[in-house]
Amino acid sequence: MKIAIASDHGGFELKQNLIEYYKKQGLMLEDLGTHSTQSCDYPDIADKMAQVILSHNADLGILICGTGIGISIAANRHKGIRAALLYDDFSAEMAHKHNNANIICFGGRTMKPEDVIRRIDIFLHTDYEGGRHQQRLDKLDD
Ligand code: RB5
Repeated sequence: MKIAIASDHGGFELKQNLIEYYKKQGLMLEDLGTHSTQSCDYPDIADKMAQVILSHNADLGILICGTGIGISIAANRHKGIRAALLYDDFSAEMAHKHNNANIICFGGRTMKPEDVIRRIDIFLHTDYEGGRHQQRLDKLDD
């Protein structure tokens, strides 16, 4: 599975932590930036990620801003993107099981790295249920 990751300046530190953590686990995340703590605009970062996901150049995206809110709003402006803010463990499970999210979002200023890693793990180990949920996902893009 190919996973891409991107953040604005508010999520930069958490992004670097995650890249380092998964590298040690043998999983290379594709880093789409930003590459420093210099201020940048989260819609630009979300646009970049959306293009990568919609063109099937990654299977899953991880987006991070200060709270995870702005960058999830921006990503969800793109048809075909289902960006979910994983604010707790239950939402991490449901975001895959019911919403089949293709981008998962986190807050670099609101979440601890260990909580984020656990939620990513829950998301990756949960299957999409399909069935009645598929007709709802179809309606999102109608
Ligand atoms: C940037 O200061 C901050 O507004 C941004 O990272 C994010 O939290 C927006 O939702």
